[in-house]
This record gives sequence, C-alpha cells and structure tokens, in this order.
Amino acid sequence: MIVGCPTWNIGELQGDWESFFDELDSVAFAGKKVAYFGTGDQMGYGNNFQDAMGILERKIAELGGQTVGLWPNEGYEFDASEALRGNKFCGLALDEDNQSELTEGRVQKWVAQLKQEFGV
Ligand SMILES: Cc1cc2nc3c(=O)[nH]c(=O)nc-3n(C[C@H](O)[C@H](O)[C@H](O)COP(=O)(O)O)c2cc1C
Repeated sequence: MIVGCPTWNIGELQGDWESFFDELDSVAFAGKKVAYFGTGDQMGYGNNFQDAMGILERKIAELGGQTVGLWPNEGYEFDASEALRGNKFCGLALDEDNQSELTEGRVQKWVAQLKQEFGV
C-alpha cells in the first residue's frame, strides 16, 4: 500500500484525509507493508514540514502496518517535522514549492527502493 498526503493548515492533514482519518481504525493493516509520501513547503512551514505524512504513518503503524520506504532528511532545511523518525523521514518528502527540480529524481530513487522493499 502507498499512502500520500500534503500537509495543510499548518501541520494538518489535507481535508479528504481528515474526514477519513477515523475510518482507518477499521482497516486491517496488520502484516501489510505501507509506504508514505507527502508534499510540503519547508521554507514557508519549517516548523511543520510534512507533518501530515507523520500523522498518517503513526496512526497506521499503531494499527499494525509495517512502514517501508523511509527517506533520508539530508538536502532539506526545516526546524521540526512530525514525519521525522530519527534522521529519516517516515516516507518520501517532496517540496514542489522550493525544490521542484529535485522531485523527479527523488521519486525515481524512492520507487526503486520501494520495489526492493515490497519485493516486486
Ligand atoms: C494554507 C497552507 C498551509 C500549509 N501548511 C503546510 C504545513 O504545515 N506544512 C508543510 O510542509 N506544508 C504546508 N503547506 C504547503 C503545501 O503542502 C504545499 O504547498 C503543497 O503540498 C504543494 O502542492 P501543489 O504543488 O500540488 O500545490 C501549506 C500550504 C498552504 C497554502
């Protein structure tokens, strides 16, 4: 499973995910590999960069999902993020507002990593 969400309204889920969030409790995540990607703005929202990705990952991991596709935090400038797990993001962090030129390469590298981690 691959889950994607932009961060909105200063550290919050995008609206469609917000309304679906509680329904995640009824999804059978146990034993499932789950990868995450998010879009955000590290310059404009440096204290909440990619928070939505972290909020979703935390919830789904609590429900038994096995997180794959962690992504290094090198090459970004921000102060705080709910999506950080040690020195990695819990998924692919994309920033179309400040680093759009890096998006394609990041996606290609991440997808190659995912293929290995998903075993496909
Ligand atoms: C009102 C508003 C609030 C935002 N809040 C955050 C935030 O808290 N954290 C973050 O990383 N990005 C935040 N962003 C940036 C958006 O996530 C980013 O602009 C969007 O993902 C870019 O996608 P797009 O190119 O499809 O518009 C916010 C943007 C707006 C307009």
